[in-house]
Amino acid sequence: MGFTLAVLASGRGSNLQALLDAIAAGALPARVAGVFSDKPACGAIAIAREHGLHHVALRPRDFADRAAHDAALFSAVAAVQPDLIVCAGYLRIITEATVKRFEDRMINLHPSLLPRHKGLDTHAAALAAGDLEHGASVHAVVPALDAGPVLAQVRIPVLAGDTPDALADRLRPREHALLVACVGAIARGRAALRGGRWQFDGRALAAPLSLRADGQLQLEAAHA
Ligand code: GRF
Repeated sequence: MGFTLAVLASGRGSNLQALLDAIAAGALPARVAGVFSDKPACGAIAIAREHGLHHVALRPRDFADRAAHDAALFSAVAAVQPDLIVCAGYLRIITEATVKRFEDRMINLHPSLLPRHKGLDTHAAALAAGDLEHGASVHAVVPALDAGPVLAQVRIPVLAGDTPDALADRLRPREHALLVACVGAIARGRAALRGGRWQFDGRALAAPLSLRADGQLQLEAAHA
């Protein structure tokens, strides 16, 4: 039934909520078939419960090793037969076997302008580097951390006196819009991963799309 999402999250779940809000508003032609987590007490699982969504949370410490945890969580993901797996603040590294199993069907939202600031603590890293701009990226998940091809980015200015928390708070609503726009583009068939490369409107994407203030994705001028 329609375009099916599996959402993975470890945190508060504000991006999951943004997807659900967009679906409820008729702005995103998709449905969330399940929410999956490594943290049973996280906000994302609470949101799933409130919405009566299928959810599975498995604690890593209940498994022999990373591979066993990953295999169990992702067999629950596979069971909902998702068209797209959306990692929205899922804070565990996904094993290579799983990444390959779901090749071209898994995206991640990362809070930086990739390839700058991979990994954790990206807001502090952007400030420490003296960046004038910060942002978020939606990229394909590949075996190397935060290294997959980027579909789209949103940019915000770094302001004098910014702290990591201030930057994160200002970025969050823009991240939500970016994720909704990217999932929407994929659900509508405008954006697709083919053999690890992004296509947009039937053409290979030469550079990440950017999110406009109105929430639409646009090609960078040089590639339009
Ligand atoms: C977001 O900042 C996302 O970019 C990062 O983790 C955070 C998740 O936030 N990967 P939430 O759990 O969706 O509120």
